[in-house]
Amino acid sequence: MTQWFCGSCSLTLTHPTSSICNDTMKVFGAVLVFLAYFGHATSACPALCQCYPRRAEVVCNEVPLTVFPVESLPENTSTLTIQFTNITSISEQDLNATPRLKQLHLFSNHLNNLSSHLLRGVPLLTTLDLTGNKLSHLPAEVFSHAPLQILVLKNNLVEKADAAWLPDNSDLTWLDVSGNHLTNISGDFLQKMPHLENLDLSNNHLVKILANSLDPLIKLDRLNLQNNKLDSLDASLFESTRNLTYLFLSRNRLTYLPPNIFQKLTQLKHLSLDDNQLSSVPPGLLDHLNALEDEGLDLTANPWVCDGKMAYLLKWLQNNQKKAFLPETMICSGPQSLKGRSVMSLTETEL
Ligand SMILES: *[C@@H]1O[C@H](CO)[C@@H](O)[C@H](O)[C@H]1NC(C)=O
Ligand SMILES: *[C@@H]1O[C@H](CO)[C@@H](O)[C@H](O)[C@H]1NC(C)=O
Ligand SMILES: *[C@@H]1O[C@H](CO)[C@@H](O)[C@H](O)[C@H]1NC(C)=O
Ligand SMILES: *[C@@H]1O[C@H](CO)[C@@H](O)[C@H](O)[C@H]1NC(C)=O
Ligand SMILES: *[C@@H]1O[C@H](CO)[C@@H](O)[C@H](O)[C@H]1NC(C)=O
Repeated sequence: MTQWFCGSCSLTLTHPTSSICNDTMKVFGAVLVFLAYFGHATSACPALCQCYPRRAEVVCNEVPLTVFPVESLPENTSTLTIQFTNITSISEQDLNATPRLKQLHLFSNHLNNLSSHLLRGVPLLTTLDLTGNKLSHLPAEVFSHAPLQILVLKNNLVEKADAAWLPDNSDLTWLDVSGNHLTNISGDFLQKMPHLENLDLSNNHLVKILANSLDPLIKLDRLNLQNNKLDSLDASLFESTRNLTYLFLSRNRLTYLPPNIFQKLTQLKHLSLDDNQLSSVPPGLLDHLNALEDEGLDLTANPWVCDGKMAYLLKWLQNNQKKAFLPETMICSGPQSLKGRSVMSLTETEL
């Protein structure tokens, strides 16, 4: 077994007897020179990048690129990853070089703008990951020209999620706009994504989610609103999202929850409400959450006031101990006489 490596191609030859080895070597040597030349001409790979021809994948990882490596990109590339480089832009012309692209991962570069025609030359693109760039204002129609199913804009500088970015009835099932500067999210924007199953809006500055704005998202399975500035939620907010299984509301400023807000969420397995400003919950709040998994409800790190209003929650916790996450760490912050006591240690007569 002899192996020769020539940059991006490798050849493996077997020869049955060593007596013919010398002659064979000469012949194959000549063939190899030809193949090396020919191979380079047809299956080139951009300098600084790795190419995996059988998977039609190209990866440019943490290399000193400052412009998109359009030169020598294999035309049949279906997955392209350019990450931790110094490229600042990517154009429609760049992507015209790879018309069969299905996945484009552009994690942690220095992109600060996209053209509205960027995706016109990639009609098969379903996944676009722009995590960790410097995108702020994006033009209308920027995501309209490809059948995107997964769009990740995590950790950029976006202030407004604009309905004009998307086509009507977009194919998106997964949208992640976490870690941006959103202060609100419009119903017009969400309305464009009736197939959405996963929506991540965590780590923004959202103050309010408008009533009915989630109504079009009937397929929603996971909603992450963690670490925003929400101080209240509309009573009918989750009226139509009946397939929700994961709902994250931790690290907001919620002081109050409407009694029926979770009534339709009979599929909900996980609900996190930790690190808010809840002093009590209304009677009945948790009564319809029949699918909660063990440790599925997190109510820790809230300033519970252990008076009569706590009776409902105390009873629920006693009946559903396994479903709460670390219930023994839920502490009364008032009244003065019970301050510091664990909620679970209370008896009904103490309230
Ligand atoms: C892509 O093209 C290269 C070079 O023409 C070829 O070697 C490779 O097999 C092709 N890959 C696929 C998945 O078609
Ligand atoms: C990007 O540019 C900075 C500043 O010039 C440099 O320090 C860094 O090494 C570059 N990144 C890569 C991956 O080459
Ligand atoms: C971004 O690009 C669009 C279209 O090319 C252009 O209209 C817009 O002015 C650019 N915005 C910024 C902030 O550079
Ligand atoms: C939503 O936020 C954007 C950007 O900060 C702002 O321009 C717009 O007026 C806000 N809309 C509403 C309804 O608050
Ligand atoms: C909700 O989930 C059920 C079970 O997974 C599924 O059959 C149904 O189609 C879903 N509803 C919607 C609107 O997606």
